[in-house]
Formats: sequence, C-alpha cells, structure tokens
Amino acid sequence: MESFVKVTVIWMLALFILEMTEGEKLGSLPRCSWAGIYNFGDSNSDTGGISAAFIPVTSPYGMTFFKKPVGRLTDGRLLLDFLVEYIGLPYVSAYLDTINTDYRHGANFATGGSTIRRQNESIYQGGISPFSLDIQTIQFTQFKARIIDLWSSRHPAADISQLQRPDDFSKALFTLDMGQNDLSAGFRTLGEQQLRAQLPDIINDFAISVQQLYGQGARSFWIHNTGPVGCLPVTTFNVKNPKPGYLDQYGCIRYQNDIAMEFNKQLKARVIKLRSELADAAITYVDIYTAKYKLISNTKKYGFKDHLKVCCGHHENDVHIFCGKTGIVNGTKVFGGACANPETYVSWDAVHMTEAANRWVANHVLNGSLSDPPIPATHACYNHL
Ligand SMILES: *[C@@H]1O[C@H](CO)[C@@H](O)[C@H](O)[C@H]1NC(C)=O
Ligand SMILES: *[C@@H]1O[C@H](CO)[C@@H](O)[C@H](O)[C@H]1NC(C)=O
Ligand SMILES: *[C@@H]1O[C@H](CO)[C@@H](O)[C@H](O)[C@H]1NC(C)=O
Repeated sequence: MESFVKVTVIWMLALFILEMTEGEKLGSLPRCSWAGIYNFGDSNSDTGGISAAFIPVTSPYGMTFFKKPVGRLTDGRLLLDFLVEYIGLPYVSAYLDTINTDYRHGANFATGGSTIRRQNESIYQGGISPFSLDIQTIQFTQFKARIIDLWSSRHPAADISQLQRPDDFSKALFTLDMGQNDLSAGFRTLGEQQLRAQLPDIINDFAISVQQLYGQGARSFWIHNTGPVGCLPVTTFNVKNPKPGYLDQYGCIRYQNDIAMEFNKQLKARVIKLRSELADAAITYVDIYTAKYKLISNTKKYGFKDHLKVCCGHHENDVHIFCGKTGIVNGTKVFGGACANPETYVSWDAVHMTEAANRWVANHVLNGSLSDPPIPATHACYNHL
C-alpha cells in the first residue's frame, strides 16, 4: 500500500477506534478498489473449468439465471458470483476455458471435484479433478508470468486487451474454497480415524498454497471454510436404518459434520498463524459452515423446503437418476429433470445448492458477520493494519 493511503487509513482508524468494534471500524473505511479476483476451489466455485477440460455440464444446469448451461454446477449463480457482484467486478472466467474469456479482472482456477491434496485417482473413478490446489497454484503462477511477459515490449503484437495489468495482481482479492472433496474422498477411501489423522497434512498443504500465492504478490485473501458435508443428500440417500445418534436432528450424518468442523477448526488456527507469517497479507476467514447449517436447520423460517429434498434429478424408491442424466425406471426412460420452483429448494442436485440457497448464504457471509475479522468483502484489503 502506498504510504499516503496508509497514513490516511491510519488517521481514519484513529477517528473511529474509540466507539466502534473492529468490524465496524474497518467497514467505515472506503471500499477496497479491487482490480480483480483470483479464485481457487472446487465445484462450489467453478465457473466453467471442469466443463472446458472434460465433459460439459448439461441442461437443466444454468436454467434459472443464465438460461443455459454455463459450466456452473447449479441452476444459476454461485456464491462466487454473488461475491463479485457485491465487490463490483464482472463474473470471472475459468482459466481452462479458451472461448470468449475475459481475464481483465482476474481468473478462476476452480474445477469441480478439486481437492487440496492430490488423490492419486482418475476423474473417471470418483469424480476427483486432477486440478488440485497445488496445481491451481502452479497454473496461477504460469498465468501471471505469461501476462507479465505479454505486457512487456518483447511482444509488440501481443493481444493484451483481455488480460489483467501486471500491477494489478497485488490489488486483487484471492479467494479460496477447498476441502469438501478431501473430506468426501476421505470418507470413501479412508476410515474415520485415518482421515482425522490426515487433517493436519491437508491443512498444511492448504497453507503452502497460500504462502506461494503470497510469494507471487497476492496480498488480500478471502478464505472459505468447508460446509456441513454430512448434510449432502447424495450421502444421506444411502443411509438405511441408522443407529440412534448416527444422524443429527436434521438428518445429517453427524460424524461427517464433526470432521468438517474439526477441519475448520484447524484451518482457522492455521489462518491465524499465516497472518503472523505473511506480514503484509490481509487474510479473512469466512465461516461458510455456520451459514449453511443455519439455513439447513431453519429451512421453513427462511422460505425453503426441507434441505434433503432435491430439485433436479429423479430420486424415488431408491432409484437415483442424477440431474441432467437419463436412466431406466421400470422399463421406461426417465430424465433427471428440474423441479418447477428451484427457488424453494436448498439442494439443486443432491450435491450442490440452488442459486436461491447460494444467495441466502451470500447475504449472510459477504457483509462480514461470519468472518474473522468481521469485515465485509468490500473491505477485505485492510485487516493487516
Ligand atoms: C498420493 O500418492 C503419494 C505418493 O505415493 C502420497 O505421498 C500421497 O499421500 C497420496 N495422496 C493421497 C491423498 O492418498
Ligand atoms: C415399478 O413398478 C412397480 C409396480 O407398479 C412399483 O411397485 C415399483 O415401486 C416401481 N419401481 C420404481 C423404482 O418406481
Ligand atoms: C449481515 O447480514 C445478515 C443477514 O441479512 C444480518 O443478519 C446481519 O446482521 C448483517 N451483519 C452486518 C454486520 O451487517
């Protein structure tokens, strides 16, 4: 930050410091002037990566907002889309996309199925993306190096019209939302205790990527923790005659949510440590778990159907045809189509939330009320002062 700005900021802080909480204090400062956004994540924030690299998402995905499939694994906008709207940036193009992409305000490295740690399995097995967080970090490093090279005079004919300016990387918001698939893969391939034992290594790999991005000039980080993975209908479908206590009062698998909460606890502790290691970084930790669980445990109050009801797909009598797929039920072809009113469902496709639920979560996290420190996304450049 330039010293003039810093002095102004400190002066303004001094004015507010007496009567306000930290969040209110920082919220009184002018908005950060974000030059762009760089996102790292999984299907919760993929805006077209896995569709560009592998098999495209099909209809009825995208039906509510974009009116066609656009590589997002929901019926409309993702939390990331609401975030960029909130901070005043355009929707962010997937790095792996090659057609009509706009990288003037950042790029999105997220792909559906991504994990923090490499899973040593093909996407054709468990749906795990080969673009794990370390790979996404390498992709960013390459992206940045190539942009700097293109802007340099060595390429007078280079087309830089759709690219970020080299100076703007440190003025961008770096968002990370990863971990859900490390847990899902762990439930599938490891025992509960083994997965728990690996959490410190998973968190450590996450921290290494944050450090590497900082080394590449990233200064403002907005880090989502992981949601209540035990509440995903795709896993609760298969629970038959559960032992007492296996499910919580909302039908979520308790031990899976316990592990998600333990992951989040370790992630938060590591974020706090990263703040002291990366002196010039503003790192905001955002409690997505609490937002999602609040919605799941109060669906009626907020105008939604039960969170285990799924809008898109055919899920009846133990037959599961997933959203956009076709199957045979009793000798008849059945398409896993969408419900008539997705805005009343929490779950879009048994794995991902609907746009309506994403909007609800956005309304509860973007203003900072579930963040540490409690500052809105518009001000997430300041919290290292
Ligand atoms: C993948 O394989 C490597 C090398 O054998 C190993 O170090 C790593 O722990 C494995 N990852 C997982 C998630 O099992
Ligand atoms: C198939 O049809 C039979 C007889 O109508 C019915 O009992 C059964 O529930 C149907 N199965 C599915 C999966 O819908
Ligand atoms: C943020 O938004 C939520 C949901 O509308 C609201 O309950 C909360 O009071 C807001 N917090 C702040 C700090 O504005």
